[in-house]
Amino acid sequence: MTRLEVSTQPYPDQKPGTSGLRKRVRVFQQANYLENFVQSIFNSLEGLQGATLVVGGDGRYYNRHAVQVILRMAAANGFGKVMVGRGGLLSTPAASCVIRKYATFGGIILSASHNPAGENGDFGIKYNIGNGGPAPEKITEAMYAESKKISRYLTLDTPDVDLDSIATLQLGDMQVEVIDPVSDYADLMQSLFDFDRIHALINSGIFSMRFDGMHAITGPYAAEIFETRLGATPDTLMNAEPKEDFGGGHPDPNLVYARELVEVMFGANAPDFGAASDGDGDRNMILGRKFFVTPSDSLAVLAANAHLTPGYRLGLAGIARSMPTSQAADRVANRLGIELYETPTGWKFFGNLLDAGKATICGEESFGTGSNHVREKDGLWAVLFWLNLLAVRRESVQDIVTSHWHAYGRNYYSRHDYEGVDADGAGQLVDALRKLNGNLTGKRYADYEVAFSDDFAYTDPVDGSISEHQGIRVGFTDGSRIVFRLSGTGTEGATLRVYLERYEADPDKQGLDAQDALSELIRIAEEVAGIKHHTGRQAPTVIT
Ligand code: G1P
Ligand code: ZN
Repeated sequence: MTRLEVSTQPYPDQKPGTSGLRKRVRVFQQANYLENFVQSIFNSLEGLQGATLVVGGDGRYYNRHAVQVILRMAAANGFGKVMVGRGGLLSTPAASCVIRKYATFGGIILSASHNPAGENGDFGIKYNIGNGGPAPEKITEAMYAESKKISRYLTLDTPDVDLDSIATLQLGDMQVEVIDPVSDYADLMQSLFDFDRIHALINSGIFSMRFDGMHAITGPYAAEIFETRLGATPDTLMNAEPKEDFGGGHPDPNLVYARELVEVMFGANAPDFGAASDGDGDRNMILGRKFFVTPSDSLAVLAANAHLTPGYRLGLAGIARSMPTSQAADRVANRLGIELYETPTGWKFFGNLLDAGKATICGEESFGTGSNHVREKDGLWAVLFWLNLLAVRRESVQDIVTSHWHAYGRNYYSRHDYEGVDADGAGQLVDALRKLNGNLTGKRYADYEVAFSDDFAYTDPVDGSISEHQGIRVGFTDGSRIVFRLSGTGTEGATLRVYLERYEADPDKQGLDAQDALSELIRIAEEVAGIKHHTGRQAPTVIT
């Protein structure tokens, strides 16, 4: 077995985005493209000699190939051991769980989350540090810097490793441990939630549920947890067979892309509870019978009821939410007398707060919820949390949410996405908004008066690091908000996200459709930003 030093040329576009490096599969298939980035990761790490790395991905096209490349390169770069999920699989939260449980040096996760997969789809790679969470910006910047000056990578001249059975193998001087991708994660879930009570609910004869795996990674996890451990019947699971192209779908659990589940949940004889997860298992959508729970409300409800679950019965240290996420959780934090942290978009900003014990539960409006049990958002965790609440409270999803609104007020909320628009136009829109900042204060738009407008900047309360330009906020005197930002995860053109929020304290006025309740703010967003002019679009592509 020979160690090879292969010479290579830098690619200029290997800057990690909101969640690692995401590109078309075809981009990753360019000569040495993947190898360059993997070597850049390794070059930016200190102390990897003899250390243990976790590797796994969401099973999309190119996953198997990439795992083999990474194994050879990890061995050639001096890692002592790689723990890899059978078949090269690990959901994102399961990878985080394994990194933490076995106190490994870090991990590489192969995923482009919910982006479509297959030869013409997307692929992605990201590095997680020893706390199980995404590498902070300091490290991703270092990787990018390495990628711009790379001249050689290290690998071994060896055949592929057999990843399909649980075994411990040798690859050069490195050990490869093929692990069950599901069991450690399922054990963790069982330690946090009352499985006996959920089992009783699911088998009570008066409760029915559906979980949609969207042909992505969560199918095997859901089968083990819901069927084997919680006694659900097999018809509980939809699309539970993972596929390399995700069945041609777009596994993003929202009202648009999880249409099959939505039709069941809004159809005749709808089940009591429905949920879906995304490509790599970190997102979740929660539905009741003919009822959609916005992710922002879900975060608030989970936080307010956390004491009803074994894992959180002692209470929460604090709650963290990304800036564009609605302020519903703020009201819960306020009532609980705990701190609320507002961070930039992206899970990596929660890591320090969780590590420092400042926050216990975190969430994003983009269908992401999680806690300090791992350092990623966690789709099945949120589903089990809801099931635990339903098992204890024995009320419907809709009743739980509406009684929450009665108690705390309702934050009407919606996000409008303009996907794949011209990058220049989108850039101009944001630049123009930046110029307006500060000058809007006091300006009236119909019933609304601007209280402040700024470009959100965040100072991490733990390490003092500063992240600027995280989204333009326009806040109104009644607490309503419009937020504009450009996506950092897209692979084609630009995606403009417009986040809209309005607070309603009066229970008699909490029953509106969110788009109706927000119609005035939607109009103001157009007036302030000139969306149609800059994007050339008359309407958003996705409304959630
Ligand atoms: C999107 C979401 C963000 C999430 C990220 C990774 O990022 O908005 O909340 O953390 O995906 O799942 P964006 O495309 O907006 O940069
Ligand atoms: Zn995801």
